[in-house]
Order: sequence, then C-alpha cells, then structure tokens
Amino acid sequence: MRNSKITGVGHYVPENVITNKDLEKLMPTSDEWIRERTGIVERRYFQEGVDTTSNMAANAARAALKMAGLEATDLDLIIFATLSPDYVFPGSGVLLQRELGLNLIPALDVRNQCSGFIYALSVGDQFIKTGMYNNVLVVGSEIHSSGLDFSERGRNVSVIFGDGAGAVVLTPSDDPEKGILSTHLHAEGEFAEELAVIDPGSNKKNRLTHEMIEEGSIYPYMNGNVVFKHAVTRFPEVIEEALKKNNYKPSDIDMLIPHQANLRITSYIQQKMGLPVEKVFSNIHKYGNTTAASVPIALSEAVQQDRIKEGDLVCLAAFGSGFTWASALIRW
Ligand code: UT7
Repeated sequence: MRNSKITGVGHYVPENVITNKDLEKLMPTSDEWIRERTGIVERRYFQEGVDTTSNMAANAARAALKMAGLEATDLDLIIFATLSPDYVFPGSGVLLQRELGLNLIPALDVRNQCSGFIYALSVGDQFIKTGMYNNVLVVGSEIHSSGLDFSERGRNVSVIFGDGAGAVVLTPSDDPEKGILSTHLHAEGEFAEELAVIDPGSNKKNRLTHEMIEEGSIYPYMNGNVVFKHAVTRFPEVIEEALKKNNYKPSDIDMLIPHQANLRITSYIQQKMGLPVEKVFSNIHKYGNTTAASVPIALSEAVQQDRIKEGDLVCLAAFGSGFTWASALIRW
C-alpha cells in the first residue's frame, strides 16, 4: 500500500490584529490575566466583506498548491475541517471548490473542532493509501470572532479564540519510508456539552429564540477546568500511541506540532514528553486558538521558518470539543 505525503503547506490570517488590550475595552478582562493563563498576546479577527471561512481557506490552499507545484485543477478531493462554516448548509467544502474555480471534484466537510484538521488529514491519507485519489487538499479554517460572547459570562472562551486558515496538499509518496506513517483518532461523546455551542440546535421546535440569545446558549460554552484536565492527559497519550505504533520514542521527535489550545497545555506536554522547548512549536501568542486551523497554520509557519527539514520526524496532535483527540506521525 502506498503512503501519502504533505507536499505543500500554506496559511492565511486576517489582517485585523486584536490585542489583549483591545479586549479589555470589550469585556471585563486584563492583558495580564490572558497572558498568564493562556500565553496569548494577540489574535486575528476577520473583516466582514473581506474574509469568509471559505475564502480564507482558498488563500491558504493557493499557497499550499504553489509549494506543491500543483494547479488547483490537479486536485481530486477537497476535505474541509471547520466548526464555523459559512452557512448552516451546504458545508464550506463546496464553497471552497467554487472559490478555487473547480467543478465536479468531491468536497467533504469534517466536523471535529480542534481535532478536525488531523481527522481530515487521516481521511485524505486513507483515500491516497487505497489508490482512490492522488492529490487531496486538506484545509482547516475558522471565523470565531463573529460568534463570541463578549460579556463577562463568555470571557473565558472569548479571549482564547481567533480566526485563520491553514491548508496542506497530500500526494502519493514514492518512498515508503516517507510521508504520513500513521494517524490515530479518538472520541469520547460523554463530554460533548463541556465545550459546545448548543443553539440553534435542530432538536428544538423553535430553533432560534430571543431567550437563547439572552441566555447565551448561541455562544460557545467551555468548562475550562474539565477541558484542561482531559487535554493534558489525552495529548501525551495520543502522541505516545503514534510513537509506539512506529517503534519510536519521544526523543526521536524532531518537531511536535500540538493544537494551539493554551500555552500552559503546550508547556505541560513538552515537559511530560521530555522534549526541549525548541522541538515543540508554538504560535499561540500571535493567533490564539483557531481550532481546526491551528495545526495547519502552525505546520505552515514551522516549514516557512525552516524548523522542519526533509527526513525529520514530525508529530501533529490535537484535543478539543467532542471530546475528540488525534495524532499523526509524519516522516517529512
Ligand atoms: O481548543 C480546545 C481545547 N481548549 C482548551 O484546551 C482550553 C482548556 N482550558 C483552559 O485553557 C483554561 O481553562 C482557560 C484559560 C480557558 C481558563 O483558565 P482557568 O484557570 O481554568 O480559569 P477559570 O475559568 O477557572 O477561571 C478562574 C477565574 C474565575 O474567577 P474567580 O471565580 O476565581 O473569581 C473567572 O471568572 O478567572 C476568571 N476569568 C477571567 N478573568 C479575567 C475567567 N476568564 C477570565 C478572563 N479575564 N478572560
């Protein structure tokens, strides 16, 4: 069976920079609290009329295609991970297909929040492994800023989320030693409501009411402590799982790219895995938590900054709403 490899990476973030000080003007919070608890200094917010979830994905995709040396018309499949689609339906995959000027190739939407990109990467990898498709575009793109509760009630979530997009192009690897070595996916629905947007849900006769808006159930809710505790357990677990499957140990990792959830979570993982700081990528100070976009943005920046070289062992890992968590081990 053939492997798939990442031959192009790219990302796009909106121009609009929102600092912690800017947030102080919107809700009771402080630069000091945000930096201390999360490591975030600033994030990007979309500009209405300029950025959309699908056109940000297209910008990231164009950069990834360029690096891969491919035209959009070479693509066989689009896989789009997002929790903030342009529309309720159809999914953003078809909008991206249209945006890239493509016709008739399939577009698949993945709904796995912070783990969405690695879930999507795993799906793309399977399609290439089976020989069904050759060139697969995998993107993660999010606009959070239009759906946050900027009151005291929602501040623990609202200070962490940011907007952005990242993309990779997957192609078959002619070298069996290179490319995606394995992917590992998990979910635990018992905790579905611990990090969720409940309304407007389909199981209520009136999907959207004034009460929902007033009560805040249309905004993300997060039980921060519970999410944090599970994250620090599941991240190391799923990284170890990937290493074990391929007979590697933590010290074999050249670059670990964790989902950018919180700098404290990233530091915990780094210490737990016994890795030096420079082998764990972090850009949360610039972008906050961009859920499905966070891993591909980080991967794209790591490549751009020459922090990943040919032959390196790269591990991607994520945890988030669902709960879902996942990892991918890649020989670059
Ligand atoms: O991407 C998906 C995965 N997500 C994560 O992994 C996030 C995991 N969770 C976290 O990173 C942390 O739980 C947060 C950074 C979100 C919150 O940190 P925390 O230490 O868990 O804070 P907390 O929610 O327990 O709140 C502590 C205090 C509370 O005040 P009192 O009750 O002690 O007086 C909050 O009201 O901090 C207060 N607080 C804030 N104060 C200023 C909560 N949010 C804010 C805020 N600014 N933004």
